[in-house]
Amino acid sequence: MMAGRPACADETDAGPGLQRCINGACGRTYALRERIYVCPRCGETLEIDCHVGSRTDGRALREQWATRPALRTRTNDPRQASGVWRYLELLPFEADAPFVTLFEGNTPLFDAPRSAEYCGVAALRLKHQGYNPTGSFKDTGMAAAMTQALLTGARTAVCASTGNTAASLAAYAARAGLRAAILLPRGQVSSSKLAQSLDYGALVLEIDGNFDACMRLVAELGDDPSIYVANSINPFRIEGQKTVAFEILEQCHWRVPDHVVVPGGNLGNSTALGKGFSELLDLGLIDRLPKLSVIQADGAAPLARLFASLGGAVDRIPEKLEPVENPQTLATAIKIGAPVSWKKSLRAVLRSGGQIISVSEQELADAKAIIGRDSIGCEPASATTVAGIKKLVAARSISRQDDVVAVLTGHALKDPGYMIGYHEGTLSLPSASGEGSAFQGRFRNAAARVSADKAAILRSLERQR
Ligand code: F0G
Repeated sequence: MMAGRPACADETDAGPGLQRCINGACGRTYALRERIYVCPRCGETLEIDCHVGSRTDGRALREQWATRPALRTRTNDPRQASGVWRYLELLPFEADAPFVTLFEGNTPLFDAPRSAEYCGVAALRLKHQGYNPTGSFKDTGMAAAMTQALLTGARTAVCASTGNTAASLAAYAARAGLRAAILLPRGQVSSSKLAQSLDYGALVLEIDGNFDACMRLVAELGDDPSIYVANSINPFRIEGQKTVAFEILEQCHWRVPDHVVVPGGNLGNSTALGKGFSELLDLGLIDRLPKLSVIQADGAAPLARLFASLGGAVDRIPEKLEPVENPQTLATAIKIGAPVSWKKSLRAVLRSGGQIISVSEQELADAKAIIGRDSIGCEPASATTVAGIKKLVAARSISRQDDVVAVLTGHALKDPGYMIGYHEGTLSLPSASGEGSAFQGRFRNAAARVSADKAAILRSLERQR
């Protein structure tokens, strides 16, 4: 999956970084300008080395960032107003890059007392990436990827998606003046996300097949020199997304949380958070890593399965991940059986001492409703975090007094159909036979029909007390 014949880069190359193959036995490096997505020599994924290890100015950087608060209301300068570009010093771009931005990042870190009680921890904070411009965490990575697309002279950006990457790419490509083409699994994407992609003017191609099939097609299309691949296999996406780690630490006043918990689908997000925290450690800005834990849905949990099979004894990342052939979950965002970034994600979790587990549909749905009761809300995939924290507390991997941050990845309005189904009691779990079985949410709150009459309304209120 490459365009042209990329030349290797020298470790001593000046500039803001280089691309490196993650395979230790290969380790080949390439210049940033090379439009490649996997190592042309060995086929392994790539990551960007921003020369962070050689920097000694961590404290100065921290002070510099503090002078660039969220100034969205006062300036349109990306270096001030974007939660990605304010961390330019740790990103693989020169200061005169054509920064693409919709003023992403700078998202809130909420206290969530009801969710904390539900999980059995004293306190829980929710970092809500659904407050990004298109309503999901994808926007931070897309700001970086579209900027890189412009630098490489790309004309058309392409992605496979369960919906959020698509909406984000559609918006950011339009902002960058690029064409966007999107491959979606037909009938498996929430209408809100589909509507966004249409509205931002992308070419939307619905494929008969699941997300993994769309992703395989994108890998083939990446060979075409006219195409820029915007999935998180693209290491520039990870660079934009890693800034959430910096933001979390700033919001925690540089006190390292004990745990950071994220959903897992294609596994770009956990990769990015792990990279961000590691860079802060390398810079001396933190003295330990938060334990990074990834939560998948039971029916789409290839990495949780692998993790369990390793039994904690891991000195080497395994060569292969057994994909889930027919992934099933109502959290369509993470209905993924063959995640492309699994090695990088697993490496980050292992390095931090975190866990990778999965949760049932019922656990996920109830956790989502509790996040709603905290007046925060999120899309279904994001709620794996709270469901997972509850399980990790029960398993004593998280203790009651631990400082826990969960990353919510998408806005509640991304999937209103799921919410209505939960509260009306019509959600039906997917099963291997395709039959499906309904379940009752513990926190159901169905609408009641009432006659247009004051006394009837007062009687309804009385019943609620
Ligand atoms: N949460 C939401 C809301 C998502 O949209 C996704 C992934 C994830 C979690 C999982 O993140 O893939 O980095 O592990 N959505 C992709 C998409 C696959 O196409 O929108 P991940």
